[in-house]
Amino acid sequence: MEGVAKIAVMVVCLMGGSMFAVRGEDPYLFFTWNVTYGTLSPAGVPQQVILINGEFPGPNINSTSNNNVVVNIFNNLDEPLLFHWAGIQQRKNSWQDGVVGTNCPIQAGTNYTYHFQVKDQIGSFFYYPSIGMQRAAGGFGGLRINSRLLIPVPYADPEDDYTLLAGDWYTKSHSTLSKFLDSGRALGRPQTILVNGQNAKGDGTDKPLFTMIHGKTYKYRLCNVGLKNSVNFRFQNHQMKLVELEGSHTVQNMYDSLDVHLGQCFGVLVTADQEPKDYYVVASSRFTKVVLTGKGIIRYTNGKGPASPEIPEAPVGWAWSLNQFRSFRWNLTASAARPNPQGSYHYGKINITRTVRLVNSVSRDNGKLRYALNGVSHIDGETPLKLAEYFGIADQVFKYDTIVDDPPANIVNTMTIQPNVIKFEYRTFIEIIFENHEKSVQSYNLNGFSFFAVAIEPGTWNPVKRKNYNLLDAVSRHTIQVFPKSWAAIMLTFDNVGMWNLRSELAENRYLGQQLYISVPTPARSLRDEYNMPDYALVCGAVKGLPRPPSYV
Ligand SMILES: *[C@@H]1O[C@H](CO)[C@@H](O)[C@H](O)[C@H]1NC(C)=O
Ligand SMILES: *[C@@H]1O[C@H](CO)[C@@H](O)[C@H](O)[C@H]1NC(C)=O
Ligand SMILES: *[C@@H]1O[C@H](CO)[C@@H](O)[C@H](O)[C@H]1NC(C)=O
Ligand SMILES: *[C@@H]1O[C@H](CO)[C@@H](O)[C@H](O)[C@H]1NC(C)=O
Ligand SMILES: *[C@@H]1O[C@H](CO)[C@@H](O)[C@H](O)[C@H]1NC(C)=O
Repeated sequence: MEGVAKIAVMVVCLMGGSMFAVRGEDPYLFFTWNVTYGTLSPAGVPQQVILINGEFPGPNINSTSNNNVVVNIFNNLDEPLLFHWAGIQQRKNSWQDGVVGTNCPIQAGTNYTYHFQVKDQIGSFFYYPSIGMQRAAGGFGGLRINSRLLIPVPYADPEDDYTLLAGDWYTKSHSTLSKFLDSGRALGRPQTILVNGQNAKGDGTDKPLFTMIHGKTYKYRLCNVGLKNSVNFRFQNHQMKLVELEGSHTVQNMYDSLDVHLGQCFGVLVTADQEPKDYYVVASSRFTKVVLTGKGIIRYTNGKGPASPEIPEAPVGWAWSLNQFRSFRWNLTASAARPNPQGSYHYGKINITRTVRLVNSVSRDNGKLRYALNGVSHIDGETPLKLAEYFGIADQVFKYDTIVDDPPANIVNTMTIQPNVIKFEYRTFIEIIFENHEKSVQSYNLNGFSFFAVAIEPGTWNPVKRKNYNLLDAVSRHTIQVFPKSWAAIMLTFDNVGMWNLRSELAENRYLGQQLYISVPTPARSLRDEYNMPDYALVCGAVKGLPRPPSYV
């Protein structure tokens, strides 16, 4: 089976130049993916979807910390393709990050191999095709990082480990959705919510997504892979014990339901302690006028009878969600998954060297929808920003720092369309405030780093609000939501050299410019700080044909 990885220890690196991108002594996981279109009817009507080895959603990547992951991808679509491994910190290695601003796309009819090493981010992630609206067609799948045997995990080994990828779903193809956005229109409302590519009908014909043995405890990894809506996850009659959030062990609280915002993943334990029969797992849209509901069946082995048609109620309003966010705490005594051993434990004591406020805005000038951060609506060009920088032609492709750290209040009324790149000095400790003046809930994702999500509050931020930060046990993660007319604060050390995407996970907003890139340069041009661009890396745009810069040493 394709999904089952072959493990080979001590393999010589497959390709020249990858020597420094992967450590030779750690085990390798090899995958070969055939990416094709297919026709499925996940929402009742036939539509084009993206398949990986015929699967929808794609296969799970089951890895263990320090594994080298090698994925050879055959692009059998009729358009360029990139895969992004959301939340995986590509240390010194934005070459493998798989977004338009860092890597050239895999052209249709060709194959390309990603090589990266997963580190101690023990937890739940997902990958997806990152160009345009491709994620609207599927092509996503779970990515888990297990703990090495020697590193204890703060809960007993579950009986089994299940991934639930839920998200809102459109019945229009990803290319039709792109055309809407290109023409200045909005995406409109999704049609349904899918859970692992389906929505149970409840007519007795549904196959179970997973099975549980009475008395046993299971790990479920809950991710929101959707495009527009936050979802609320809940199981009929079962509580969830939260154990992990985006690669960090959490304080283990019990929840009846969990709000999972766009791009987020939670790891929970569920004990099969109810009457043996079928139960629904439910993911329903949050903060929407019309509530969409996706369901899947979880079956007890030897269970008798169908799931009750009564679905547990979802919470209402975002104050509930904000309170839930505040209950998420990092487990300070759990011994794994420390993103930044030098400073993370005492992040509350590190002096902030720079504060950046990022204000999102929308413009409908001339009937054309665009979204921005601090007045700049990002566009991607032919040349990935990272390659322009590496080959020394950045000044021909983009300008650094076109936005200011402390924008004036009227920034929401101005908008320019250009590449949006901020430069941060290597190893500085930065505070970023996200201000949301809009009516919809935002969700942001930062590539390449984990950050401390220290606060979310209603109203407007000012420096006095720092006294409300959680400076002790905020969860280290890579996404944060911002409620309407609210702000959120994150803190992190920019200790990973490269070019890193910061984006709204709302597909419409991201597609229409609400994203930027963070450049963290290495003053030393040293392998200690960043890997060389691999020999096999694709080149395109203005750097095509240019001589390769001298290697780092
Ligand atoms: C990929 O799948 C398509 C459609 O099933 C098939 O025609 C093609 O031969 C496959 N390619 C590879 C490399 O397996
Ligand atoms: C995932 O990998 C771990 C470690 O190799 C293994 O113990 C586990 O059985 C695997 N799980 C699945 C679902 O393949
Ligand atoms: C394409 O696939 C072939 C066959 O598996 C492999 O040998 C080659 O290295 C791959 N090419 C790239 C650029 O990854
Ligand atoms: C935190 O992790 C430790 C193991 O290192 C575990 O014993 C403890 O129960 C966890 N604490 C909470 C509150 O979940
Ligand atoms: C942080 O700033 C305070 C006040 O400016 C200063 O006294 C202290 O030495 C600084 N700490 C570090 C580690 O730089």
